[in-house]
Amino acid sequence: MTQNPVPHDDLLRGKAYTEGEITVTYDAPRCTHVANCVRGLPSVFRPKERPWIQLWNETDAARVAEVVRTCPTGALHYALHGAPPEAPAMPTTVMPVKDGPLVMRGDLVIQTPAGEVREVRAALCRCGASGNKPFCDGTHAKIGWKSDQPGGQATPDQRGDGQPEEGQQADGARGAEGR
Ligand code: SF4
Ligand code: FES
Repeated sequence: MTQNPVPHDDLLRGKAYTEGEITVTYDAPRCTHVANCVRGLPSVFRPKERPWIQLWNETDAARVAEVVRTCPTGALHYALHGAPPEAPAMPTTVMPVKDGPLVMRGDLVIQTPAGEVREVRAALCRCGASGNKPFCDGTHAKIGWKSDQPGGQATPDQRGDGQPEEGQQADGARGAEGR
């Protein structure tokens, strides 16, 4: 059995960067700064510079696509012009990250407040404190959430109860500092 590719239009979200035959999109609220992209291709993914994605530094577009696929959260996606979209992993995998989110790969349909989202990679919040649910936005690290704590959910103090849960700011942990 083969997986049908998820159309580019369903995957490309956020700010688009295009150079030659490749477009890379970056959905800042989904980035948890695990930096696979920076480690994989430091000449292209340069978080301290603007623009932070510098595709002109790598002539091998397939190499850029390969590194984008290592982004576990789905913050990064790509379209290689004239090539099929990224194929979803099969079978679907779900991996709990210690003290962090559930990382999924596969042919995913995710219910969000804004409607259904098709995905091939996603990190879902399991601390309960993300301001971008159901996605992880990195808040678990900011609040020091531990996955082995009783109940497995952020405590009221960690969640900052008293503030709205949806849309809650997670300064320093989300949004890629204005990238
Ligand atoms: S979540 Fe993706 S875009 Fe953000 S730092 Fe990690 S690999 Fe890069
Ligand atoms: S697990 Fe990352 S914000 Fe909840």
